[in-house]
Amino acid sequence: MNHNEQHETAHKPVKRKEMTRRQFLSYTLGGATAFMSMGAVLPMLRFAVDPLLEKKQTGAFVKVIEEGKVTSEPQQVDFKVHQVDGWYESDPKMQAYIAKGDDGKVFALSPICKHLGCTISWSGPEAPNLYHCPCHGARYTKDGKNLKVAPKPLDEYEVKVDNGWVYLGPLEPNTRV
Ligand code: FES
Repeated sequence: MNHNEQHETAHKPVKRKEMTRRQFLSYTLGGATAFMSMGAVLPMLRFAVDPLLEKKQTGAFVKVIEEGKVTSEPQQVDFKVHQVDGWYESDPKMQAYIAKGDDGKVFALSPICKHLGCTISWSGPEAPNLYHCPCHGARYTKDGKNLKVAPKPLDEYEVKVDNGWVYLGPLEPNTRV
């Protein structure tokens, strides 16, 4: 390379890659369209998934029996609980055994056996004054204490007594035994 060529190379202007007007317009229009679409789509998306973001409504108390009718002998009560899970609403039937303890306070036990989930019953000929499970012979005391077969005590409903009525809430682990 001679001196002249060297000189030319050194002073050759750096070629910048410039955006054409057409590119500029398509980027600007594309960005604006995407932005406006998001504004329209996001509320729809929020509306579509909204029920999934809501907390499950299962914690309400249900009025089940007059307090005056509850005795120290457990009695079975049937009731329904309104549940909302996303878009799905249901009213599953529930059961409880309700009785008064030695302290005179009302308590309620779940009739679902803690062995494999059969339904127990109170005080048959095979188990006087005990809960009995027909499936594999589990036994529980009036307070729900597991005596045989089942590994855990019966679950207990949250109980509220208000204005002469007994209300049952969510199930929780047994607090009596
Ligand atoms: S399910 Fe109740 S004893 Fe097995």
